[in-house]
Amino acid sequence: GVTREYWFVVKEVTLAPDGVSRKMLTINGTYPGPTIEADWGDNVVVHVKNALATNGTGIHFHGVRQLGTNFADGAISMTECPISPGDSFTYKWRATQHGTGWYHSHYSLQYSDGLLGPIVVHGPKTENYDIDIGPILLTDHYHTPAEQLAASALTNTLGLPPLAENGLINGKNVYGTKGSRFETKFTPGKKHLLRLVNTGSEVTFKFSIDNHKLLVVGMDWVPIVPYETSVLFIGVGQRYDVIVEANQISRNYWMRANPMLSCLTINVNAFNVRGIVRYTDSTANPTTVSWNIIDACVDEPLSTLIPYHAHTVGPSAISPVFSANLLPDSIIPTALRWDVGGHIFHPPKNNPLVKQLLDGFSASSIHTDFAPVDFTSLGASDDTWVYIILQSLLPLAHPIHLHGHDFYVLGRGLGSFHEPLANLNLNNPTRRDTVNLPGSGWLALAFKLDNPGAWILHCHIAWHLHHGFALSVLEGTTAQVEGVWGQERGELERVCSNWGVSGL
Ligand code: C2O
Repeated sequence: GVTREYWFVVKEVTLAPDGVSRKMLTINGTYPGPTIEADWGDNVVVHVKNALATNGTGIHFHGVRQLGTNFADGAISMTECPISPGDSFTYKWRATQHGTGWYHSHYSLQYSDGLLGPIVVHGPKTENYDIDIGPILLTDHYHTPAEQLAASALTNTLGLPPLAENGLINGKNVYGTKGSRFETKFTPGKKHLLRLVNTGSEVTFKFSIDNHKLLVVGMDWVPIVPYETSVLFIGVGQRYDVIVEANQISRNYWMRANPMLSCLTINVNAFNVRGIVRYTDSTANPTTVSWNIIDACVDEPLSTLIPYHAHTVGPSAISPVFSANLLPDSIIPTALRWDVGGHIFHPPKNNPLVKQLLDGFSASSIHTDFAPVDFTSLGASDDTWVYIILQSLLPLAHPIHLHGHDFYVLGRGLGSFHEPLANLNLNNPTRRDTVNLPGSGWLALAFKLDNPGAWILHCHIAWHLHHGFALSVLEGTTAQVEGVWGQERGELERVCSNWGVSGL
């Protein structure tokens, strides 16, 4: 492969994605940020300069396996300190997967303010299409900066996150009489590839195009056995590659991203999240009628998400169970925090977990604020499997995401987990990087301990992560982690000491 190099400057600008001006955090001044594009096997190098006046930052490449490159994961507190104002950091990783992804700030709530963009890695075509339409990002959109919203959510005794005023398709939508819609052109008779990404903070979208069926050929970074649907459920962080044939009469059609009401997160304006598919040069609005869209706070069913390349999961070395619950904050008892497995994740920003690993931690010395899940005694090896069972104690669903791995989804269900492990599906289960944990239900995930380092497992609802819904997964012996970090350790320490000096 070749090396693909990008230069990102993180800066605050005023933009009006839906016609309403607000301060946004951007890469190079645009929203969404530039597309990172590579071929399968290429090396990707991203130089990030922080041009914010008073805040740190960092970029995470969602779902990129970072096999042997834990230092490029961009998860603040886990693998790096925030990049200080004026400072730069270079991320280097190899595109070992192909399909559609995205990158975003993994510091505080910055991605909710716009610090995100798509990733496309071209691989072998497993399905036939004629035209690659490219990424289509679906995002819930707020008119108020996220820090202010988070502060008000904390003082809300129900712990309810704020409601988005709107939703965007590729950074555009209307609001009242303002703004304009995303539009794309279909060539009659041709098959179009759409790369759908939910880059939102909270809302699960149902995506559809009036009168057109979607042939789903990939999820996250994993090609699947194709299946056809008219409405696709996409949770925060998830991606679907779909092929749409322009086989209808020549006119204009609505593209719809309807938020799911039953996920409890809706402002009515957000029902106007639409784009336009045009077969012709006409500029008129479509008059087409929506597919029948059923509201449910669910994921696509596991039984339809069958990986194209079949893998089998081995027996687990260990299968811990973690329950997620909302508990009163220890300092502000009227506020609620997410507790997972007995810990609320709120680690320090100036002493990342991997630095503690490199400094020769002992498991007991890791602060419980990191909510550690310590697999280090098992070492990292290609044939050690672990399962993690997550249990939601409340009737709220969570899109669960793990860094450094595609996980295998062995099962999920309602009620409390009581399955014998032997009943889980080990035979080519759904393999992806973000999956829905049902409200008052359970989820069983498996992965191989093959990637030494510190990785975060978290709910991708930005507000839930911010309020503690995460675990730290420690993987590999200290020697294995040192082997990966090698010469990058100096860079880690430089960024941290600049962050310390900047005293922000
Ligand atoms: Cu989309 Cu922890 O990341």
